Amino acid sequence: MLLIALSSLALFSCVCGENPAVQLALTDKGLQAVRHFAAGVIQEKLEQVELPKVEGRIMGIHYTLSGMKITQYDFPEPEVHFSPFVSGLVLSLSGLNVALTGDWATHLGAIDDDGTFNLALFDLSLRSQLGLDKDTTGRPSVSSLYCEAEIQQVDVQFSGGASWVFQWLVNIFQDHIRSRIQKEICPCVEDAIQSLEQHLQAINVSVEVNPVMSLELPLSAPPDVHDDSINFGLKGEFYSLESHTDPPFVAPPFSLPIQTEYMLSMGVSEYSANSASFAYYISGHLQALVNDSMIPSFSPIRLNTRSMGRFIPQLQQKFPDLLMVLQVYARQTPLFSFEPGFVKLDLLSAIKAFVVQSNSTLTPVFKLHADSALSGKMWLDGKKVLSTLKMDNFSLSLASSEIGPFKTAALEGLAKMGVSKALDMINKKLAQGFDLPHTTNAQLVNSVLSLEKGFMAFFSDAKFHSTL
Ligand SMILES: *[C@@H]1O[C@H](CO)[C@@H](O)[C@H](O)[C@H]1NC(C)=O
Ligand SMILES: *[C@@H]1O[C@H](CO)[C@@H](O)[C@H](O)[C@H]1NC(C)=O
Ligand SMILES: *[C@@H]1O[C@H](CO)[C@@H](O)[C@H](O)[C@H]1NC(C)=O
Ligand SMILES: *[C@@H]1O[C@H](CO)[C@@H](O)[C@H](O)[C@H]1NC(C)=O
Repeated sequence: MLLIALSSLALFSCVCGENPAVQLALTDKGLQAVRHFAAGVIQEKLEQVELPKVEGRIMGIHYTLSGMKITQYDFPEPEVHFSPFVSGLVLSLSGLNVALTGDWATHLGAIDDDGTFNLALFDLSLRSQLGLDKDTTGRPSVSSLYCEAEIQQVDVQFSGGASWVFQWLVNIFQDHIRSRIQKEICPCVEDAIQSLEQHLQAINVSVEVNPVMSLELPLSAPPDVHDDSINFGLKGEFYSLESHTDPPFVAPPFSLPIQTEYMLSMGVSEYSANSASFAYYISGHLQALVNDSMIPSFSPIRLNTRSMGRFIPQLQQKFPDLLMVLQVYARQTPLFSFEPGFVKLDLLSAIKAFVVQSNSTLTPVFKLHADSALSGKMWLDGKKVLSTLKMDNFSLSLASSEIGPFKTAALEGLAKMGVSKALDMINKKLAQGFDLPHTTNAQLVNSVLSLEKGFMAFFSDAKFHSTL
């Protein structure tokens, strides 16, 4: 029994693969805002659109309709809904009326003729289904699953040339042209979806964040479509550019509470922050060499054996009047844990002290372990992300010594002061805040941010503005 339970557990963990560290959901409210924005853009573009040439043959006469331009339209906003059934979107449009002008030309044997025409399309309706998926490289992909278009009525008036000669054909022609144009609509829709798909294929799912690391954001599963939202699970892992090593811990699952009164919901798990921390650690960026010239000039305590001798008497006795250097490094990856309302960070570091001999040789003298527990808060003030950090605990202990044992209590007090001075400086920076990301077409508004158990939640509306 236990064996079956264990093996099915193992199977389950294989099948479910990687948990996403970032979850992004677009709600129906967001979809409707995008639809409204897109409808506006399409409307503005309709006036400039030149429609493709229509060619055909009717009763032995070859004709072309070209240079077609929209002169008037009545464009009701399309409807768009999420569809779990097709795992995508259902789009529908009805009651579209369009008036066009253009040039006609006919060709019968050796007789060519031409002129202009006015054409009106009444009550065009369209129904289309878009499937959303993930391709093998983790990019989102979109495809046309179904398309149906219908035009109720077409009116045509020819003028110029010998149009009066074939005016009697108009009734037959109207029906013919109605089905010709009707047939053109779905291929146009499919072309538009194909071009959207090409844009999606050009997305880079790996972003270089800074010279140390990249952020990988491929989809971890196909988009999860519900009636009122679509949920994207993204890998959300930071990698060291140098080693591209996976951290020795895995992404735990988390469940993002989607709030349908906002357009967007986003969750970032603590795993994402910890993978960044690991990328810094593994690429050797969490270490520093500290010498006396880096200690602010106002500090009464200097990095030399005379000054440090007040805390460690044998230092000044064994190495009188020499400079010192400290090698400070993280003993392991600093780990964040997200708790409701705050973030905890445990920082286990070591400080290796050296005496600088007069011939520049570095002689190791002792090693200390400095363990700090920090906590931080994060909140939004308008468009700015603000945060503060504070020290919850700090302890210093002697790990090894080349100069014999000594008491660390006084040094601990000194280091504590140094850490809180550093935190004051960091907090001054954090108080200036970071701007929320924005683009030329969209801006986040009404945003809220909260820290939850294991993840950070972000909910927001967006304001779109056309740049046409
Ligand atoms: C994607 O980004 C990665 C790293 O950020 C870069 O090396 C790569 O060239 C980019 N690929 C494309 C197609 O832009
Ligand atoms: C201290 O370190 C800095 C940066 O590594 C270096 O420029 C400087 O020369 C060093 N000062 C001494 C006194 O070694
Ligand atoms: C540098 O000086 C120290 C102390 O005087 C001595 O132990 C060491 O051997 C010297 N190193 C070199 C490379 O001369
Ligand atoms: C602070 O750290 C010390 C040593 O690690 C530990 O014994 C103590 O319980 C901690 N205090 C708090 C308030 O966490």
